[in-house]
Amino acid sequence: MPVVVKKRLLDLIQDDHQNYYELVSFFLDGNIANIEKEKKSINLLKKELEQVCLDDVDFPDQIGDIKHWYLEENKKTGNAYQDYISRRQLSGQREYFKNIGQAFEFLIKVSPIKKVDGSWLYSIVNYWNDPAFHDLILIYLEELGLGSAKSNHVCIYDDLLRVLGLDDFELFLDDEYYHHAAIQLALGYAPPDFIPEIVGFNFGYEKLPLHLLITNGFVA
Ligand SMILES: [Fe+2]
Repeated sequence: MPVVVKKRLLDLIQDDHQNYYELVSFFLDGNIANIEKEKKSINLLKKELEQVCLDDVDFPDQIGDIKHWYLEENKKTGNAYQDYISRRQLSGQREYFKNIGQAFEFLIKVSPIKKVDGSWLYSIVNYWNDPAFHDLILIYLEELGLGSAKSNHVCIYDDLLRVLGLDDFELFLDDEYYHHAAIQLALGYAPPDFIPEIVGFNFGYEKLPLHLLITNGFVA
């Protein structure tokens, strides 16, 4: 390995003060070996997990209660959506974006996250021969578009930004907008010790959100 590349790698691995944009660039750099990304992911995830406050997290303690909790949460989201539709049908205002400029701003601000969509499941393909992971692998493959670029979630978002003339604006975003993307990528390169965190992240991230129903509906 050339000395310059080695030095850059060491800098990137050892520097605890890297910003999130640099971390995202690190994980996306195809010239950096996965083993180095794994080391970086362990450091980042440990640091992030130390800062997580679980006091207000509403999640069952018993594994057997999770399915019921999940269905109830979906029901609550469905009801909230019906309430929103009712308000709109009674001439209520749009509640997410007041104008198209606000909607465009949102699309740009979430683009660092959307551009790594599905990445948190990357390491799960290593366990392909264990049926326990097949559902997660299927979710990952769907994120990738099941072999079709037209259905690849990252490509879909890229196309959307391009069509709207919003591509490249994410380069002007503050570092905080890269925080979530850095965590997703770190989970993607995490070793088996972090499988519970990966599964938990998938659980939370794939849960039906109210904003998805509203932004896909005709009354948004
Ligand atoms: Fe997705």
